[in-house]
Order: sequence, then structure tokens, then C-alpha cells
Amino acid sequence: MSKVTVTAPANIAFIKYWGARDLDRAIPCTPSISMTLRACCSRTTVAFEPNAPGEDEVRIRKSNGELKEPDAGFRDRARQHLDRLRDWAGRTGRFRMATQNSFPSAAGLASSASGFSALTLAAVRAMEQDASPAQLSVLARRSGSGSAARSVMGGYVRWPSNGEEGAAEQLAPADHWDLRDVIAIVETSPKKVPSREGHRRAPTSPFFETRLDHMDDRLEGVQSALMEREMSTLGRVVEEEAIELHLIAMSSRPPIFYWAPETLAVLSAIRTWREEGVAAYATMDAGANVHVICPASDEPRVAERLDRLSAVHEIIRDGVGTGPTFEPDHLF
Ligand code: PMV
Repeated sequence: MSKVTVTAPANIAFIKYWGARDLDRAIPCTPSISMTLRACCSRTTVAFEPNAPGEDEVRIRKSNGELKEPDAGFRDRARQHLDRLRDWAGRTGRFRMATQNSFPSAAGLASSASGFSALTLAAVRAMEQDASPAQLSVLARRSGSGSAARSVMGGYVRWPSNGEEGAAEQLAPADHWDLRDVIAIVETSPKKVPSREGHRRAPTSPFFETRLDHMDDRLEGVQSALMEREMSTLGRVVEEEAIELHLIAMSSRPPIFYWAPETLAVLSAIRTWREEGVAAYATMDAGANVHVICPASDEPRVAERLDRLSAVHEIIRDGVGTGPTFEPDHLF
């Protein structure tokens, strides 16, 4: 039996994956670009017992160290992914796994990217298989969470890379640019419509085709602003892109409203702060919380101001990170 523990970070997309050509295989309509985080992480331990019979064991580790049964939806998704990984490796045997998030699970932050990236890396290593970062990215994507394909790499990541369907590629390592993400938690309940359903409905928006038409220019804009470390150019496009994702969601049939009134309060405050010289730009995933992207020099001001807003329940101070790591200490 071998046991492996991996800590894998979440990521925040500057250009979003929204709409799939093949939803089950997570083949996106357009490429996305993200920053891998460092504070919001999933830590996952996987033990592999070769040739052992029986069902895979899936558990969640609570903050007090106790292991508990997950809900059926989570358990089934994890088991399906373990099945895929076992098939890929051509092995027989039983997995036992436990996982824990560093961020409050009630924070309404997506954990599928960090969770499936950690599970993939840990299970592949537990089966003593070798895989390149590109192969690991494709394997993580097969979980059905496209954003997991990006979380296997650190720094700034594009997925899928140019010309290739499946894998992510690193555009620049974390030390290229010390960007921060101060996450304003405005809603603590889980999101109402899962991103999978959002991807499915995206093409029903009358504006989806328009989005596809200008996507190449937007990708090019974000990629070159990242390479040149141009904060205001990057920030403007990142904010535009986030608003567009939500416009697509709101105009899908039936519509999806992820924003809460507090989301708009934060967006409005950020616009005012910018007029006062603070470099802060907003992006939102499929939820109401606002990720405020800023350079390291502006982070203290941004965090302090967000903390003071009555719309904000709590903040998480995060920033660009170097990607998953293997850990010596196990969860069970
Ligand atoms: O990875 P999924 O299928 O949960 O989709 C991610 C959707 C967004 O978080 C809204 C955008 C993104 O690219 O991360």
C-alpha cells in the first residue's frame, strides 16, 4: 500500500471558461487564462491498495481532524474520477481518500479546481505512475471540472494551450509578477446553479456568439498585459471579461443570476477607489463573491477598505502561487 498527500491550490480565471464544446470531457468553446492561488487550497491524501477488492472510500476531514462521510454527490464524483484514473493506469485495486479545504467550505468558493487537481496528482503518484504536467492537466480535466486542468500548474496558466485540445500550459511562473487576490466574501451559501449547468446554458444566450467573436482579441490582450506586467490594461480587460460572463449567464435561457446586491456594492466601491488612485480590479466566478486583483503594493489598502464595507462578510488574502506540492504529513 502506498499513501500520498498533495496540497493543490484553487485558481482565479482572468479569462473565463464558460461554455463547452463537449461538456462531459470538459472541452471548452474558448481558451481561458488564470492565476494559480496559494492560500485557498485542497489537501488530499490517497492510499492505493493494489488488487484489494471493494468500493473506494471517500471521506472529508473536518477542521477538528475528524473524518466524516461526504454527501452522495461529492462521493460519486470522486469515485467516478478514481475509476477514470485507475483505468488510465491499467491497475486494479482500491483507493482510500480524504480531503480538506483550507478555506471555509461555507465561503461559496469553488473548490472543484483545487479538489480534483489534488486528487489527480495524489492518485497518480499513489499508483506509482509517471505523468508529465500536461498529462496531469488532461487527467484532472477529465473530472469534468475544466478549471482543475489549470490548477496542476503554478503561476499564470492558459488552458488549453495553443493548438492543443486538452492540456494547460504555464505562461509565466509565479515570480514573474506578484499579483494579489483579495477575496471579498459577500455570500456564504453554496452557489445556486452549478457551473456545469452554466456551461450548458451559455450557448442559449443571444450574446454568446458575440463573445466568441471577440475572444481571440481578449485572450491576446490579457496574455500580452500579463507578459508586460501592465496592471491597468490587464485589470480593465479582466473586469470587462467577468462582467461579460455574468451578462451571458443572466441572458441564458433560463437566466442565471449569480450576483447579490452586495456584489454590486463591492463593484461600485472598487470603481471609486480606482478614481482615488488604488489599482484594484474585480473578477467574479459563478457566484456572488468578488475577487479583487491588485499589485502587492496596493494589497494592504485594498484589504483594509474591503474589510470596512458592510457588504463584505469576510476577506481572504490570497495571491499568485507556485502550484501543487507533495506533503510528508497525511490526513489519515
Ligand atoms: O471548472 P468548472 O467546470 O467548474 O468551470 C469553471 C467556471 C468558472 O469558474 C466560472 C470560470 C473559470 O474559468 O474558472
